[in-house]
Amino acid sequence: MNTIENLKWRYATKKFSGQRIDAEDLNKILEATNLSASSTGLQPFRIFVVENEELRKELGAGSFNPQIVQSSHLLVFAAHNKITLAHIENYMAHIAQQRDIPVEALADFKAALVGGILSRSDEENFNWAARQAYIALGTALIAAAELQIDSTPMEGFDAAKFDTLLQLEEKGLRSVVILALGYRDTENDGFVNLKKVRLDLADLVTFVQ
Ligand SMILES: Cc1cc2nc3c(=O)[nH]c(=O)nc-3n(C[C@H](O)[C@H](O)[C@H](O)COP(=O)(O)O)c2cc1C
Repeated sequence: MNTIENLKWRYATKKFSGQRIDAEDLNKILEATNLSASSTGLQPFRIFVVENEELRKELGAGSFNPQIVQSSHLLVFAAHNKITLAHIENYMAHIAQQRDIPVEALADFKAALVGGILSRSDEENFNWAARQAYIALGTALIAAAELQIDSTPMEGFDAAKFDTLLQLEEKGLRSVVILALGYRDTENDGFVNLKKVRLDLADLVTFVQ
């Protein structure tokens, strides 16, 4: 199937079958997600893959989303709660190492990032970081669909509880959105055959001449 067909095939799965995703496919989704674009390339977020059923029961308790527990794997996208000079310097060192150039060659780029990012408040930077995490979420959704793996993006979770149970605050992170992965329960998920509801392209898009 091509990408459009795969995106028509995907839907926000409400009931998973219990079938597990194999490690190779999971890795492909994670690799694709890592290839997602991010503003300045900083990737100011991290992803936690939660498999453990007991932990997922705790995470999902009280949520209206049983997918937190019933999916094969749960991905938690967590954004940096503040951006520091160390984040920027680590990023410069990483670019220099990957591209085999002296870090000094990145002085202008570093100055632009320091001037732009560090002049904003921590809250502004957290919101910016969260937006980058959402772009990665979109990439993960597409990658999963291309592999015919089902998924549910979710904001219906207790972020404070996730942060505590996954010890995210200690890592300078806050959970922002989660993604359940697995295989649809075709028999029991009433959403399987629902027609997709989307705007007409003409209502979504304006071509500006
Ligand atoms: C950021 C985000 C948060 C969402 N949160 C939930 C959620 O908590 N529970 C749920 O069942 N679906 C959730 N959804 C799924 C949407 O309801 C779904 O994508 C939308 O209705 C369109 O349907 P489709 O994805 O099946 O085409 C979320 C989707 C997004 C993008």
